[in-house]
Amino acid sequence: MSVRRLAKEQPDSFAFSKASETEIKFWLGKYPEGKQASAVIPMLWIAQKQEGWVCEPALREIATRLSMPYIRVYEVATFYTMFNLAPVGEHLVQVCGTTPCWLRGSDALMEVCEKRIGKKGDISADGKFTWVEVECMGACANAPMIQLANGDGDHYIEDLDAVSFETLLDNLAAGNKVEYGPQSDRKASEPHGTDVLTDPSLYDGSKAQPVTLPNTEKAEG
Ligand code: FES
Repeated sequence: MSVRRLAKEQPDSFAFSKASETEIKFWLGKYPEGKQASAVIPMLWIAQKQEGWVCEPALREIATRLSMPYIRVYEVATFYTMFNLAPVGEHLVQVCGTTPCWLRGSDALMEVCEKRIGKKGDISADGKFTWVEVECMGACANAPMIQLANGDGDHYIEDLDAVSFETLLDNLAAGNKVEYGPQSDRKASEPHGTDVLTDPSLYDGSKAQPVTLPNTEKAEG
């Protein structure tokens, strides 16, 4: 794991927005009196969703709100790679590089990122994109995939290849609406190009065979 440090350039101050304060109230209310420090990860997440990243004044504000030493908040923010320690572009493209996605072509997606966006962690010249490599996001059946984070939330975009990925980036750059989920002709993680799951005999019990379990009466035939 690489060393993660706060960005060199930091704003002078940070304040939670009204919408963020509503979220904070919800999360703090989940913990008993005196245990509010347990909300440190949600608080960091709220700060990130508001600004796109967690700045140093935000860490201090969270430490004050949760009555925690600043270093404890710093430790959490720098440990978890989900927290951006520097500003990011309007769209944060998180490319999965773990084995199933790698075997299915994640290298090609990263080449597109390098060509279109720049180096990992940099903001593209037009301010639209930042890309990072992440570990498995649990959508291996639809490899290769990315998670896209922007003002519209966090969404998986799957079954990509270099061509469909470039088209996706073009559409995002142009401000067009994009489809989330698989970019192929299948729904979710159903098998490719087959209607096998529509065969009723898979569900109606007609293929079931009588079984005899050890140490039990003989099954009725
Ligand atoms: Fe990419 Fe699991 S390896 S989602």
